[in-house]
Amino acid sequence: MQAYRASILHLLDDPTRNAEAVAFHEDGLLLVEDGHVVACGNWTELLGLVGEASVEELPGRLITSGFIDTHIHFPQVDIIAAHGAQLLDWLEQHTFPAEAAFADPDHAAEAAEFFVEELLRNGTTTALVFGSVHKRSVEALFRAALARDMRLIAGKSLMDRNAPEGLTDTVETSRADMQSLIAEWHGKGRLGYAVTPRFAISCSDQQLAMAGEVLAQNPGVWMQTHLSENQREIDQTAALFPEASDYLDVYDRFGLVGPRSVFAHCVHLSGGAFERLAAAGSAVAFCPTSNLFLGSGLFPLEIACAHGAKVGIGTDVGAGTTFSILHTLGEAYKVGQLRGTALDPFHALYLATLGGARALDLGDRIGNLAPGKEADFLVLDLAATPLLARRLGEDRSLENRLFALTVLADDRVVERTYLAGVERHRR
Ligand code: GUN
Ligand code: ZN
Repeated sequence: MQAYRASILHLLDDPTRNAEAVAFHEDGLLLVEDGHVVACGNWTELLGLVGEASVEELPGRLITSGFIDTHIHFPQVDIIAAHGAQLLDWLEQHTFPAEAAFADPDHAAEAAEFFVEELLRNGTTTALVFGSVHKRSVEALFRAALARDMRLIAGKSLMDRNAPEGLTDTVETSRADMQSLIAEWHGKGRLGYAVTPRFAISCSDQQLAMAGEVLAQNPGVWMQTHLSENQREIDQTAALFPEASDYLDVYDRFGLVGPRSVFAHCVHLSGGAFERLAAAGSAVAFCPTSNLFLGSGLFPLEIACAHGAKVGIGTDVGAGTTFSILHTLGEAYKVGQLRGTALDPFHALYLATLGGARALDLGDRIGNLAPGKEADFLVLDLAATPLLARRLGEDRSLENRLFALTVLADDRVVERTYLAGVERHRR
């Protein structure tokens, strides 16, 4: 058994709905065994459980549950911070050429190692990831995650139209690729497969129908796509699918809106569409740095939440500009400010942890440090930089310090990252 003594902060529920949701132990103890949390609470109350275990003392450190990135693109690591274009032009000018390079398995393998290490450096312990159109890029990513016992869900992008030659698949090749990826990787270690139609514009009706069939034939498999991100994209989608009542309906008609479906962005969605997502148990990935960077718009978090839609946080690298979920929360706050709402810091932490876990339908396994959960946790150094040390002094309230952490933090704050109880990153 492993024992860690530090301050501990995690969320037992959604703090906007449950006043008892925030669990903070100033002098806390975390006990881990066989990759799972055994106990988590106040040092003085749990001391009796330590037994023979040697306690690792971590003064000045804060333990939190690992962060969950509900939307990120693995083959876009090399085009992060690409200048000058909004979504559709950005895809053509920067993104598709970068993804084409992932046809080379050596390039994919090298990038997969970098990608997974970068997640860990930033404290991300679970991610829902877009691969390129190439089956082997997803295999490279699964291999890198499996080697670290990481909980990671990914899929090959489906795109049989409106993409450059060499970067498209067909209904039949993509069906075969998905079936073989699901058979080999879904449920291996902590990996999962996600059926991944890139977005409606890049998929024919026949391919979307096939995606719905594969999803129906493979219970437990996830679905991820993009929805209502950018006005030109929305107009083009409406022109391609005149029979659909709105953008969400395009996916709904093909059986792609279910309890393991995650829709990235949803910036311009109506209240009624959020309500339909909520009724289906589907989730939204809120990607503030991407929405600001591409000029897509301001996600209406309070409307999504008011309609009961599940929401997680996504970095959306490479349209997003950071791997840091903490920093992404600071940008989520700024999006709220531009809409006249101030995101509560505990709500922000919920979105990054238990909210993200619930968005992935994994709330029973990850998202906090309750006994029985998988021991994916972080050791944060709140004095990692001189400014942080000064601003996060202990004389301020927890809420105040947590807020400043999201605004000021980056990967330097993440001193250690544990996956299933095993240290996988240390600064
Ligand atoms: N819509 C379709 N593909 C993409 C992508 O790669 N990134 C973003 N942000 N939106 C998309
Ligand atoms: Zn995306």
